[in-house]
Amino acid sequence: MCLLFGLVLFCLALGYERGRAAAVLSTCGVSNSNALELVFNEKQQYVQKFPTLFAPLYGEAFKKTIKRSLEPNNNANTTIWAVEQNLELGPLQTPIRCVVVRLKNGSLWVHAPLAPTQEFFELVESCGEKVAHIVVPTYALEHKVFVKDALQRWPDAKLWTSPGQFSFPFDVSEEFVFGKRVDGVLDAKSHPLIPWSDEIDYATLAGGTFDIGGKPTTLFETAFLHKASKSLIVTDAVAQIPKTVPPLNNPENLLLISKLSTADPMPDDTPSSRLIGWEKTALLVSYFFPEHEEFDPKKLGVVTWTEGWHDNFNALAGRLIVPPVVRTLIYAQNRSRVGEWVDEVVERWEFDQIVPAHFEAPIKATSRDFANAFLFLKDDTVDAFPENDLARGLRPIADAALKVL
Ligand SMILES: *[C@@H]1O[C@H](CO)[C@@H](O)[C@H](O)[C@H]1NC(C)=O
Ligand SMILES: *[C@@H]1O[C@H](CO)[C@@H](O)[C@H](O)[C@H]1NC(C)=O
Ligand SMILES: *[C@@H]1O[C@H](CO)[C@@H](O)[C@H](O)[C@H]1NC(C)=O
Repeated sequence: MCLLFGLVLFCLALGYERGRAAAVLSTCGVSNSNALELVFNEKQQYVQKFPTLFAPLYGEAFKKTIKRSLEPNNNANTTIWAVEQNLELGPLQTPIRCVVVRLKNGSLWVHAPLAPTQEFFELVESCGEKVAHIVVPTYALEHKVFVKDALQRWPDAKLWTSPGQFSFPFDVSEEFVFGKRVDGVLDAKSHPLIPWSDEIDYATLAGGTFDIGGKPTTLFETAFLHKASKSLIVTDAVAQIPKTVPPLNNPENLLLISKLSTADPMPDDTPSSRLIGWEKTALLVSYFFPEHEEFDPKKLGVVTWTEGWHDNFNALAGRLIVPPVVRTLIYAQNRSRVGEWVDEVVERWEFDQIVPAHFEAPIKATSRDFANAFLFLKDDTVDAFPENDLARGLRPIADAALKVL
């Protein structure tokens, strides 16, 4: 999931954004007392400091954060937590996760920090003594855009990044982007120098190489093994979309997305409407333009859903997958290279659970389950997503991107 993904998604969400504006207007200024609207407090506000173009997507906002233990077997002495917010594009909200590990000496290792609210910082700090390490695990914007803010909060933390942190569309120094020199790049060479490597191992994948801003750019992702909890920590490589509504999703947005047609009035707030909103949200963020989502030929900007999307949601959710965007776009270019990385993860590491940065966590899964999620590398028909879900959104985008290089 990358910038491209975000922008396309954003455009598609516009139909809904108009619907939302209309919905808010129709309440004639009483929207603040609407029971469905979340009430935020000061600790949930942030202004993002990344030098940026991305202000419309990532600027100033309110965000709620929650913290959960990821320790398996209810071990009372937790050493690993999920700290979660919503990733938002227009009204589409999905869970995004920062993983915090407490090292043996009590200091903290923080993977992909989130929006810099006071609440986020305090929840991370409550996991241990001092943030000693911040890790940027991929090229993908949503997992690194807040690192500069995190480093301002924890100025003594060391910064570790996966290779190839490009600065599209301008070539600026990493120091400018992160506000600090990178202490180490997570390629094979620096391995023995990394202070946490006894407790957390890593393996870096070079995904596809794409022409971004006129230069060939390889998209890397680093996976980690937290040995104490036997957790595989990944960013985008695999995920499991929950079949139930995640805890942070705003009911108002879910009801908006649940509508059969964006021109319909807001439905009543029922658990089943919320769930329908979640199912459509998952389809939209996974495929951009899923089957059964149709533009009204007569009314510009009106989107109507046709029968069948629920089955397509069931084909997508509730199982460990390489998400459609990653499988179709990023991993499609050099399958043997992806396969080598999968073999490395499977051969080197033993784990009981997987903690991705998106959707559910932890996912009970072993190295065999992980390997099975990648069987498509050898045979595309294995576990294929519905072709009609891919046909109008992801497939043409992937074909265009893969043709460039
Ligand atoms: C938890 O940690 C404390 C202090 O480090 C220790 O005394 C205790 O035995 C641990 N409990 C378990 C169940 O490991
Ligand atoms: C704790 O251990 C980590 C990893 O070995 C190290 O980087 C960090 O500086 C240590 N913290 C303290 C307070 O000694
Ligand atoms: C794919 O990656 C392998 C390294 O695993 C490399 O030898 C090969 O040249 C790559 N193929 C393409 C088409 O880039």
